[in-house]
Amino acid sequence: MSHRSRCMFSFWQLVLLFLRVLHLPGGSNGEFYSSVDTMQGLAYVEKEILDATHVYVKAQEEQLNLYRNFVEQVKREHAMAIDGMQLDEYVGHPLHAFRLLKRMVTDWNGLHELMVNNKVREDYRQKIDQVAKDFGYPDQTDIQGAVKAFNRLQEVYNLTANHLADGIINGKLTETELEWRECFEIGVQLFDLKQYERSLEWFKVAFRILIISSRKILNRRKFEFELMEYMAIANFQLGNAKSAGILLDQILKEEPTHSAQQTRKYLLHREMLSTEKVEVASDPTWHANYTRLCQGHRLPEPFTGKSLRCYLDAKRHFSFILAPLKVEQVHLDPDINVYHGVLNDAQIDKILQESDEMEMRRSAVSGDDGGSTIADLRVSQQTWLNYSSPVMRSLSNLISDISGFDMGGAEHMQVANYGVGGQYEPHPDYFEVNLPNDFKGDRISTTMFYLSDVELGGNTVFVKLNVFLPPIKGAMVMWHNLHYSLDVDRRTIHAGCPVLIGSKRIGNVWIHSGYQEFRRPCLLTYDEEKSLGYRD
Ligand SMILES: *[C@@H]1O[C@H](CO)[C@@H](O)[C@H](O)[C@H]1NC(C)=O
Ligand SMILES: *[C@@H]1O[C@H](CO)[C@@H](O)[C@H](O)[C@H]1NC(C)=O
Ligand SMILES: *[C@@H]1O[C@H](CO)[C@@H](O)[C@H](O)[C@H]1NC(C)=O
Repeated sequence: MSHRSRCMFSFWQLVLLFLRVLHLPGGSNGEFYSSVDTMQGLAYVEKEILDATHVYVKAQEEQLNLYRNFVEQVKREHAMAIDGMQLDEYVGHPLHAFRLLKRMVTDWNGLHELMVNNKVREDYRQKIDQVAKDFGYPDQTDIQGAVKAFNRLQEVYNLTANHLADGIINGKLTETELEWRECFEIGVQLFDLKQYERSLEWFKVAFRILIISSRKILNRRKFEFELMEYMAIANFQLGNAKSAGILLDQILKEEPTHSAQQTRKYLLHREMLSTEKVEVASDPTWHANYTRLCQGHRLPEPFTGKSLRCYLDAKRHFSFILAPLKVEQVHLDPDINVYHGVLNDAQIDKILQESDEMEMRRSAVSGDDGGSTIADLRVSQQTWLNYSSPVMRSLSNLISDISGFDMGGAEHMQVANYGVGGQYEPHPDYFEVNLPNDFKGDRISTTMFYLSDVELGGNTVFVKLNVFLPPIKGAMVMWHNLHYSLDVDRRTIHAGCPVLIGSKRIGNVWIHSGYQEFRRPCLLTYDEEKSLGYRD
């Protein structure tokens, strides 16, 4: 392993320290980690703070020099007064008396004023205040969010903390590695989230890195003990009281007065008090399919006689005569088709530019109370675009030409931006109940445009249909969420896998059934039974 990094305190810790000193009004809401765009903004904020701090330090240095020179000068005067002559002789001299008075009245007062009303510090405070006000500022909840994202990635992609800490992601060696303090911090955050197994994993990694570190670490043993104490409690929470005891005893053997003593007493007490079982939350039913498909593995399927094909389609609409649609069937009944190369890079740039102009807002999911709550299950930032610009008008025509649906029933396009760890857990696109008032009928179809390639992760997966789709820039996928009877098709539950490396941008267009009477007439036969078996 290459040498691990140098500084004990990261830049951010320092800045946070500063801000705490400066009593900065909180401006953050735990939203930074979810979007690559906001993280880029954050890098800009850091640059601003770095520059401001540099200015601050230089100005303070100059001011200190001023004080120092003044003090030296006064010292010289005093030395002369004491050593050179009698004090009464000194103050008896009109020039000396004048100097002393002037120093007291003007110079010292001026100096005190400078010290008390530290303009440099005031300027710095204002600058930082302004930056935070303009861009927002991350706080503890952002760190928690990032750690949760880490946890998700580990779970979905089966990544070990060991590998992550060494910068190995899916077998790929990346440039960055974590230092023991960072692993420790991740462990503590997971511990606070009651994710004891994961936190234990990170504590072990922190411990490993700490003891192999060749760097001189002040209080190394103290940190080792701290880690061991945490590991003991995590072990205890996981039902391994014995391992917990061994770890604590190890500490106490070397340092009998360590706080581990209280911890041991407390754990012993709890052990005797109760036989409380640690509740291990069971995975939701879709979990196995979800992780498998996110990792890009399908279950083998028996041959049904019908095979999926790829074909060029020039007949669907006259607009495709010259440039036929490149259709890839990925599932039959319900039909899911990918249309490749429907948007070019220039069009995508225009769409993203347009959506950048709208304010990116953290997507909110409707809570049970009908209000909006920010939920971890959906980690992205999103904005909505209507179809009035040229590029959006052509996109609207494209959807209509491919689907045959009337865009009168279409919602604005939702453009979403998923950063690292950004995901959307399995969900249907239909409402089924509580239909929105602005549209007639439920969401009959979904059209999803991929507006970026993703280096690793970010598949769209259909957990009940054994289908995974890696995002391919410029492609679009379309399916129907309702049966011909307009009953909901529960087989269409799908998810966006967490982004492992890179940034995922998609555009979603949902069309409602209300305007489509002549485009997709109900069949007389009732086909809702197809998805009856898929009820949860
Ligand atoms: C996860 O990875 C470990 C090796 O690191 C392997 O033994 C295990 O089978 C994997 N689990 C899944 C569900 O892929
Ligand atoms: C479409 O969105 C743009 C940008 O937000 C706005 O200026 C325009 O009024 C909207 N047009 C319609 C028809 O809503
Ligand atoms: C998991 O996928 C298989 C294969 O497609 C499917 O038969 C099964 O119903 C799925 N399980 C769940 C809980 O969705």
